[in-house]
Amino acid sequence: MASVRAPQVLELPTDHPGVRDLEYRARRAAIAEVGHAYRPGSRVPDVEYSPEEDEVWRLVSSELAIKHRRYACRAYLEAAEALVLPSDRVPQLREVDERLQALTNFRIAPVPGLVPPRQFYASLAERTFQSTQYIRHHSVPFYTPEPDVVHEIIGHANMLAGPQFADLYQAAGGASLRAETDAAHEFFSRVFWFTLEFGVVREDGELRTYGAGLLSSYGEIDAFRSAEVRPWSLPEMGTLDYDITHYQPVLFEAASFGQMVDDLLAFFTTYDDDAYRRLVTTRSTGS
Ligand SMILES: [Fe+2]
Repeated sequence: MASVRAPQVLELPTDHPGVRDLEYRARRAAIAEVGHAYRPGSRVPDVEYSPEEDEVWRLVSSELAIKHRRYACRAYLEAAEALVLPSDRVPQLREVDERLQALTNFRIAPVPGLVPPRQFYASLAERTFQSTQYIRHHSVPFYTPEPDVVHEIIGHANMLAGPQFADLYQAAGGASLRAETDAAHEFFSRVFWFTLEFGVVREDGELRTYGAGLLSSYGEIDAFRSAEVRPWSLPEMGTLDYDITHYQPVLFEAASFGQMVDDLLAFFTTYDDDAYRRLVTTRSTGS
């Protein structure tokens, strides 16, 4: 007699909105299986999303699109317009992958869940973004304690449809590979956090964001103009602690989009352990 395998149920932290919903946890495990089965270079496997999951996407993406017109920087809006995500259903990573390949030669690869940071950044060096496929719990559509497909696709994939962003992400991957010590890598990942996740830029006199973390957060995107906004400083970004569980109290502003791209690209493309030591020395001496 064939043995019957019990459905897998994913472990979630005790404060996760879906932790007591066994159906949701089984669903998360099933979607994780799709990511497990993926092999680089093969077609990205589809997930059959439920009407409830499509509804979460429809709700969040339509509300975010309204906020983007008010708060997103121009380059992000143009990139999102080129990518053309569906608004009424969760997009398949396969579709996003095909579209990004045509636009900026970036790839999307599914992963079952969060991957170690060095693995995530290393794939960027190969112009590949490792993306989760599951969606947040339907009881709180405007909140997620972890990156989900909304964050990955509305935040990051929209950016990756813009050539300047795509080059920045690839250069970030190279910087990560050259940061061999943990200290140098930590500095790099903080800069990534305060720029490509939570960066803000002055455009036409207004503060706008190019950060995937802000662009995919229904609550925080409304609040970022109330944060303490500091002038652009790589040494400060690379050494400032942050807490992912709260709205970011401190953000760093680039004087213009062009300045952000130039400075960040120069940083990423030359970053290594020696550059880290120089930057930390600059910070400690204030020079
Ligand atoms: Fe992210």
